[in-house]
Amino acid sequence: MYLLHCGGCHIENGSGMPPAIPDLRITMPKLASHDEGRAYMVQVPGASQAPVTDAQLTEIMNWMLRTFAEGTFRPYTESEVTQHRANKVLDILALRRQLIAENLEAP
Ligand code: HEC
Repeated sequence: MYLLHCGGCHIENGSGMPPAIPDLRITMPKLASHDEGRAYMVQVPGASQAPVTDAQLTEIMNWMLRTFAEGTFRPYTESEVTQHRANKVLDILALRRQLIAENLEAP
């Protein structure tokens, strides 16, 4: 599922193509460590708008957390994914900039 829906941009190992496509091995562990980052990761268009059900997106997100954030984080529940997905963010890049400024060095 990851390879089909996400891997085209994020690459099999999560490395992406920085700076256009972030390296998930760097950004996911940092974003996963707080609630706003957890919400953002589901709300980002590549995830929230993928043609998959909430149950499938939950599985993909949890696989990504285990694989790219080394399994140190609480898995998403399906209801958490449903809720974040329904909560549309108008300016996702502004939110990302804010989260990065607060919590990340530039990836
Ligand atoms: C068309 C390319 C593309 C596809 C396909 C894609 N993404 Fe992304 N993804 C991006 C880009 C670009 C960003 C950086 C934020 C932005 O510009 O929206 C991103 C950011 C993310 C992030 C947050 C990491 C960060 O550093 O901002 C997560 C988590 C994520 N994507 C998950 C997924 C999942 C899950 C899928 C598949 C269901 C997926 N993406 C499919 C391009 C893509």
